[in-house]
Amino acid sequence: IQVSAFDLVVFGGTGDLAARKLLPAMFQRDRAGQLPDEGRIIGVSRRALGHDGYLDFVKKSLSTYVKASELEPEALKRFLARVHFVPVDVTGESGWPELASLLASGNEAVRCFYFAVSPDLFAPISERIGQFGLITDHSRVVLEKPLGKNGESAHAVNEAVGKVFNEHQIYRIDHYLGKETVQNLMALRFANRLFEPLWNSTHIDHVQITVAEDIGVGDRGGYYDTSGAMRDMLQNHIMQLLCLTAMEPPDAFEADAVRDEKLKVLKALKRIDERNAEHMTVRAQYRAGSVGGQPSAGYLEDLGNDTSSTETFVAIRAEIANWRWAGVPFYLRTGKRLTKRTSEIVVNFRPISHNIFDATAGRLSQNRLILRLQPDEGVTLEVTIKDPGPGGMRLRRIPLDMSFVETFGVSNPDAYERLLMDVIRGNQTLFMRADEVAAAWQWVDPIHAAWAHNDQRMHTYAGGTWGPSAAIALIERDGRTWLEDSE
Ligand code: BG6
Repeated sequence: IQVSAFDLVVFGGTGDLAARKLLPAMFQRDRAGQLPDEGRIIGVSRRALGHDGYLDFVKKSLSTYVKASELEPEALKRFLARVHFVPVDVTGESGWPELASLLASGNEAVRCFYFAVSPDLFAPISERIGQFGLITDHSRVVLEKPLGKNGESAHAVNEAVGKVFNEHQIYRIDHYLGKETVQNLMALRFANRLFEPLWNSTHIDHVQITVAEDIGVGDRGGYYDTSGAMRDMLQNHIMQLLCLTAMEPPDAFEADAVRDEKLKVLKALKRIDERNAEHMTVRAQYRAGSVGGQPSAGYLEDLGNDTSSTETFVAIRAEIANWRWAGVPFYLRTGKRLTKRTSEIVVNFRPISHNIFDATAGRLSQNRLILRLQPDEGVTLEVTIKDPGPGGMRLRRIPLDMSFVETFGVSNPDAYERLLMDVIRGNQTLFMRADEVAAAWQWVDPIHAAWAHNDQRMHTYAGGTWGPSAAIALIERDGRTWLEDSE
């Protein structure tokens, strides 16, 4: 179904995010027939590009990030006809009147301002948008992460943007929420009879959430070094996954109903601070190693700075203090330069209450539900069955496996495709509310403070491994193992 007429104004229109994600996502939605004729994409940047110069940028981005077979000339032509460019000095005056008059020609179109720029520009850009009277009844603003560096700076960003936009116009993006399998977690939990009755501490032993990347910090060192794995991945993506796994069923699949439940999870997280951080958290930095058979450099080398003490890996043993989850650890971890790119949520069920099979039947394994977010998106439910053959009752754990590509024959659209359409449609369900962001920082800030206060050890790990041995110790201390270490 087509979305309504829109103007998507991308601040940071010549930036990395626009090139890698936003333009390709809009192109794909256009190919899918979802964009109406009256849909415009307006790139904004301080670069003094002309219209043709920007079209060259867009073409280059698409030829880099869209498969050649999908770049049909007709589709490309149609897409380029939507593209406009306005050079704007976002903190000054120049360019704003031109942007205003271009927008005025869009009449009643939904207006989406996308801030794909550094967060220190959120306030001045919002202010100018207000000053130039660019906000209509159908306007919205999309904020890219990082939304602050801590609770205090996140609050300042909110205040500044909130002076000009209402909360129902603000879309804080966490692209993990746009991933198909993440939405499938909600479908699995709330559209099946099977799981919800077992989804609690009586039946679940523990949960593991892993977001592993094999890439290093690349050329994003400038940003990454001020952030670290905790702010870059854990405070947002992993905590959102945790919320969707642990939340109570919302009464409807609607923005505030879902976000109210996520917020309760964040608020129920047991505090980690200088008294227990050493025990509950592991931070580490990658050293040289080998990823996929290729030698890989260490973080300091990648960064060109040999004093950085920024973590590129973090593991946390989290607990949610409420009736549903009391005593069930959630082991969270994320890092760069790990063995491979893989993101998954693993729900480990408790052992059966009573074993009727004799010892020769083999070890009775526990059920496990694995949601693979990427790559090879799918869901696996591990169950115990009898080994085939007349040799007696020998038991074995096997996977009931569902792969998205095999089942649906197509690979999933990029998360940004879904999220950008949701912004135009005005659906905030998959976006974070201000209080959620604040609550996530409220849990993360004391951990950062504890690391500094205790001068907590920075572990190291060789590139291409699963992280420092301390992260393995974190879970093995409880008599459990990370998924890849279990049989
Ligand atoms: C971004 C982080 O939010 O997510 C990056 O800033 C990270 O450091 C990326 O590489 C991972 O996203 P995805 O979709 O590739 O898992």
